[in-house]
Amino acid sequence: MADIVELIFEDHQWFRRQFADLDELRAQSPRDCAALEAVWKPLARRLDVHAVAEEEIFYPQLLRVGDDARPETLDAIGDHNDIRDGVHDAEKHAVGDAQWWAAVRRAREANDEHMAEEEREGLADFRRTATAAFRDALGRRFAAYLSEHRTADDIDTSDIDPEGYVEEVAEELSEDEGHTGSLRIGSMKDRGTRRRVHRDA
Ligand SMILES: [Fe+2]
Ligand SMILES: [Fe+2]
Repeated sequence: MADIVELIFEDHQWFRRQFADLDELRAQSPRDCAALEAVWKPLARRLDVHAVAEEEIFYPQLLRVGDDARPETLDAIGDHNDIRDGVHDAEKHAVGDAQWWAAVRRAREANDEHMAEEEREGLADFRRTATAAFRDALGRRFAAYLSEHRTADDIDTSDIDPEGYVEEVAEELSEDEGHTGSLRIGSMKDRGTRRRVHRDA
């Protein structure tokens, strides 16, 4: 099964597990920085790729079919920026030092808050409003995106402007509806990576 709602939920559970593993390593003495890095690096990459995958595949479709999609999406993109900020800050410091832990904590807090909200709002909305077949079709795309981008090296993981993102998706959706009026996902799939509306620093 490739239901996108369940795939996102499974990633969230994996994130919680990895942060708990960092807690476990932090409790050990002496501190094993290589072990910390072995948990953190894949976690940081996946946090980045997960957010962009949602922005490419999930949120445009939530905006199309969801009941309360606009505020849910605006919140989510802002949260993704906060998570990215923490992750990218951590990358500037040596694994295991105090500044690294502080940045990891910021990423975790932003992510914990966001996952709870996303599960309660956007995912719950999609469970109510999207058909099983549509969730499955998107899930296949989501899984393919994750396997094509095992690192974040070839995708743009910079912060984006939430309002600009929602406006851009709305424009694309209205163009798309003009063609068929149906729930097409092909145009977004074929278009490749969304032009990202960068947030002013
Ligand atoms: Fe998520
Ligand atoms: Fe998210």
